Amino acid sequence: MVLSAETDHDDSERAVERQNGLRGVGSHDREVSAALAESFRHGWADTGLKLPPVPGAAHAAKRRAVVSERFPGERIVIPSGGLKARSNDFDYTFRPHSAFIHLTAEQGTQAVPDSVLVFEPIGNGHAVTLFTRPRSPRDGGANGGEFYRDRQHGEFWVGRRRTLAETADALGIETAARDDLERALGGNVATRVLRGEDTLVDALVPPAREAEAELLTFLSELRLVKDEWEVEQLRAAVGSTVAGFHDVVGELRHATTLARGERWIEGTFNRRARLDGYGLGFETIAAAGAHACVLHWMHNDGPVRDGDLLLLDAGVEADSFYTGDVTRTLPVSGRFTDVQRRVYDLVFAAQSAGIAALRPGARYGDFHDAAMRVIDEGLDDWGLRPGGEAAHAPHSMLYRRYTVCGTGHMLGLDCHDCASARSQTYLDGVLEPGHVLTVEPGLYFQPDDLTVPEELRGIGVRIEDDFLITADGAVCLSSGLPRGADEVEAWMASLR
Ligand code: GLY
Ligand code: MN
Repeated sequence: MVLSAETDHDDSERAVERQNGLRGVGSHDREVSAALAESFRHGWADTGLKLPPVPGAAHAAKRRAVVSERFPGERIVIPSGGLKARSNDFDYTFRPHSAFIHLTAEQGTQAVPDSVLVFEPIGNGHAVTLFTRPRSPRDGGANGGEFYRDRQHGEFWVGRRRTLAETADALGIETAARDDLERALGGNVATRVLRGEDTLVDALVPPAREAEAELLTFLSELRLVKDEWEVEQLRAAVGSTVAGFHDVVGELRHATTLARGERWIEGTFNRRARLDGYGLGFETIAAAGAHACVLHWMHNDGPVRDGDLLLLDAGVEADSFYTGDVTRTLPVSGRFTDVQRRVYDLVFAAQSAGIAALRPGARYGDFHDAAMRVIDEGLDDWGLRPGGEAAHAPHSMLYRRYTVCGTGHMLGLDCHDCASARSQTYLDGVLEPGHVLTVEPGLYFQPDDLTVPEELRGIGVRIEDDFLITADGAVCLSSGLPRGADEVEAWMASLR
């Protein structure tokens, strides 16, 4: 085999690019001649921008002040995280860590992989700097070819990034180039890192297991109570989620004609998510028939049949990265059968009892307990007592065979928000104004469960809505969707 001169040249060219830190050049990319490289350095208009602050910037600044106050004299490092390879040289869509978003108010497509927020202790507080990638330079230098050659970060490949000055204006945070990060993390300063998000940061800062676990918990608990801007974002995300459910009902009939109708449902919802927001808060669960008994059915590769139920559990993530999380269980034909309605009505009654228990000062566990009491008693009325008398023993909770998960969770930047909060502030805590949470009881009779009558097997029902705890109660953010069986049927009839 004869190697062409071009191949040889290509390899040495790549070696130079690697030395220059130019990543993301594919093996199938063509050689760039010296003349072309020189040409790329000239002839560009000045396209600098004067950006106004992003809408959430002032709120993020308040949160940074709380972090600063909590960790006096310590350096705090919060990476955004980076790109994750899907396969070979294609990555998943970038989504920064929620703690990073919370402290920067960074928005959707503007977010830059491998950014790092550093709180440097000075005096009684901190100087906060965002280390990030500047806009691709056009005029040569170490990274000179990035803008046309780097398929991960180059402007001609993935779009324009802000300059450092533009980012500083938009977020109201001092900025510096990520290339300066190593120097910034030097010296003998007590440092806590949000670990596992950035390999360079992890390598530069020795681990401090307990201190870092404490930081993670603190950042998670900082998100428990939402401010008014966050509530606005959640209203928007839930509003788009509701619109996605309307879209789906409009497509139900068509879905019944397709071998993989669940995929049509998924695609219909996902289109709304991309249209209105950044994308999905979590992979859409489109579960028809017995698939509804699988709590997180995301294969979505089954048919949608007349006579079956469709359980759709989905959430639009807004450009601010806040997400909705709503579930409806719909009769595909537009009308519940008697047995489907019996199950639906019991879940509806459980959800109603859970909702009635939402108020500031209530224990977080109250709404779950209220919903489960209704389920437990309802099943008892039906004569469904798995385990017989043992089911009456306190804490046996054998009814959970049919409803294994908790009745809800905090909602915010993450679908299961504040996941690193301590139990005393979350599961064993007390509801406060500004908490946003889901109430989502369900009943799932597995198709092979011999403890239930045959007519129930393969029926799964979940109803999920999103609530804001207020000073005197709770507001449903997803009230744009009907909840009761009659209302669901009327709604479906109106959209057909
Ligand atoms: N919507 C998915 C879940 O809450 O687990
Ligand atoms: Mn949920």
